[in-house]
Amino acid sequence: MQHELSGLRDNIISEIKNASSLAELEVARVSALGKKGKLTELMKELSKIGDEERRNIGSELNNFKKEIITLIEIRKRQFESAALNAKLEKESIDVTLPSRADSMGSIHPVSQVIEEMITIFCDMGFVIASGPEIEEDFYNFTALNIPPEHPARQMHDTFYLGEGQKSDKKLLRTHTSPVQVRTMIAGHPPFRIIAPGRTYRKDYDITHTPMFHQIEGLVIDEKTHLGHLKGCLADFVKAFFEVQDLPLRFRPSYFPFTEPSAEMDIGCSRNAGQLKLGGGEDWMEILGCGMVNPKVLEASGVNSDRYQGFAFGLGVERAAMLKYGIPDLRAFFDSDIRWLRHYGFGSLDIPSLLSGLSR
Ligand code: DAH
Repeated sequence: MQHELSGLRDNIISEIKNASSLAELEVARVSALGKKGKLTELMKELSKIGDEERRNIGSELNNFKKEIITLIEIRKRQFESAALNAKLEKESIDVTLPSRADSMGSIHPVSQVIEEMITIFCDMGFVIASGPEIEEDFYNFTALNIPPEHPARQMHDTFYLGEGQKSDKKLLRTHTSPVQVRTMIAGHPPFRIIAPGRTYRKDYDITHTPMFHQIEGLVIDEKTHLGHLKGCLADFVKAFFEVQDLPLRFRPSYFPFTEPSAEMDIGCSRNAGQLKLGGGEDWMEILGCGMVNPKVLEASGVNSDRYQGFAFGLGVERAAMLKYGIPDLRAFFDSDIRWLRHYGFGSLDIPSLLSGLSR
């Protein structure tokens, strides 16, 4: 047995030393120490020999077992560290490479245009007013001289909230005009406010979305007349579109809350589907306006014998489409990241507008 042991020892050690990978090392380990391994088998033989010999050989076998376990462990570490070194070598990091650029958000064209409009009007002395998007019938319709059964109510395709009679239900405001009423009820003339914000109507096609933005304007004092309305809005559109000789036209129209009422058109030309603002034969409607109807002043607690003024309302998306050549209104609210990258703005930096205002 002694003889057998020394042959086995050389054999096992050379198998371990010759293993050229972790897998081969594992094969060598199993062939020595596994359930049917050479050393395991030899240990089973111990029971068949005499006591004295068993004691000697037994301890020798145990020492040998410890020796090969240590040897396997050392080889294993060698393989592992070689594998790690190879991996480090392969995956080395080039610290001289430029870093990846941060992805930047952009300003939505609606936000940009609202900001541009606010800048222009505030430069003319307007202040910003606001009102709730969930509105009451009184502010959205009745106080604006649109009583129940008035045909203008049909045109507004109103979203009503909750149960009950239409007249006392809350609704999503169909325009920003209720802010006129709220502002006048809450304060004292003179007023010179603009009210940008969201508005809602049950409508959806290429030129309508159920939510859209308007900007409302209201000027009330003792002397403001139609000439001021024309001058103010002419200055505004020229500054906004950044075209100094923009042709303008005031066309008679009808709104229940203004008397007289007008729509303002800007001159444009259409060439092979391309719209150009400025010269040309065509006209494009841009906003609604008029002298505030005395009935609206009275409903808002303002003495219409003493005070008068004008109001206007314009669609923000429509103005953005015209100014920035955006063809489809619905895309404003699709949240398509490619569209936003294309039409979005880097920052709200609008110096050209400020220098474009005539003072
Ligand atoms: N509220 C009108 C609408 O949504 C727009 C409007 C027209 C507002 C004339 C006004 C105005 O203040 O004077 O269609």
